[in-house]
Amino acid sequence: MAEVKLSSLTKNFGDITAVDNMDLEIKDKEFFVLLGPTGAGKSTTLRLVAGLEIPDEGEVFLEGNNVNELSPASRDVAFVFQYYTLYPNYTVRKNLEFPLRSDLRKLSEEEITNKVAEVARVLHIEHLLDRGTVNLSGGEMQRVAIGRAIVRSPKVFLMDEPLSNLDAKLREEMRAELSRLHYDLGSTFFYVTHDQIEAMTMGDRVAVLNEGKILQIGTPDEIYNSPGDIFVAKFVGSPKINLMDASVDGRTLIAGEKALVFHVSDKHGKLLEKYGKRQIILGIRPEDIEISKEKKGPNPFGCRIHFKQSLGVEDVYNLKIDNTMFKATAPTKIMAKVGETVYANINMERAHLFDPDTERRIV
Ligand SMILES: Nc1ncnc2c1ncn2[C@@H]1O[C@H](COP(=O)(O)OP(=O)(O)O)[C@@H](O)[C@H]1O
Ligand SMILES: [Mg+2]
Repeated sequence: MAEVKLSSLTKNFGDITAVDNMDLEIKDKEFFVLLGPTGAGKSTTLRLVAGLEIPDEGEVFLEGNNVNELSPASRDVAFVFQYYTLYPNYTVRKNLEFPLRSDLRKLSEEEITNKVAEVARVLHIEHLLDRGTVNLSGGEMQRVAIGRAIVRSPKVFLMDEPLSNLDAKLREEMRAELSRLHYDLGSTFFYVTHDQIEAMTMGDRVAVLNEGKILQIGTPDEIYNSPGDIFVAKFVGSPKINLMDASVDGRTLIAGEKALVFHVSDKHGKLLEKYGKRQIILGIRPEDIEISKEKKGPNPFGCRIHFKQSLGVEDVYNLKIDNTMFKATAPTKIMAKVGETVYANINMERAHLFDPDTERRIV
């Protein structure tokens, strides 16, 4: 049972608190993603698990055992880095054999050959085994680097942005491959990225990290549909969520220059009454605004198309109502043009309401 548990973990570098009193439990066989912007403390967290950094406070548990005193080599974890660390003068085969030849393992030549063949098959790199590593493409190198990590069959994989140096097409391919690999290997993955798409497509669960603190832990669905605070709401989702200040009047929200009047759903209304404050921040995702050329729906806002970006499968409209700008996504068949007036129907059932002081979610 390869669980990872972090308990009140803190790591400082001088004045900077890279990891701030972190509690985290990763389940056996889980694909767990730590998502956050550059400098959030993601790499430091992984390095603490690997034993490459010593915590100032707190404990790291692997399979229920405190490993604080164990060296990186004794922790049975494998690390895949953003920059591939291959031996340039060796063939792919030798690179894969290397971790198996450690004195600790005492494997026979036959066992080593079989293990390498199996890993090469899983990663589709059999045809590269006798090539040198210097002439491999970025994607091939990253596969070999992953191969070097999995060949030892560790219980836990630590992956630090392993796809961030690959081009977009290859990244997409590798996302699918990593999901498959996770399924095939049945090991625990602790995966770090700043890329929300990677987190949402691969993670069983995702933790959003900022300034060393975890803001929310949940399934991709929970993170996306019930963001716990404004940071999470803005960090996940593209195009970004629309946010605006609004004042509360019973079950009505008024934003912008009074042109924007929203009627909240019953569920939201009851919670707002309890909440009692007069000001909130209203969040609406671009896909929760439906655009139509004719007036329809319960509360359509007439608005001007300020500009439009085509994403192929859909269009992103930048709409102006009074002086407030909104983004809305719409199917390409709508075909409205810049400067035209359209109607925006906002799905208030899916609105997100936040407290302006704490920035936490109200409903
Ligand atoms: N060895 C180090 N010495 C000093 N500061 C560091 C060191 N490693 C990380 N930091 C700082 O700790 C913070 C978190 O860094 P890091 O864990 O690398 O973030 P991430 O991987 O999320 O980009 C950053 O402010 C970074 O500058
Ligand atoms: Mg990093």
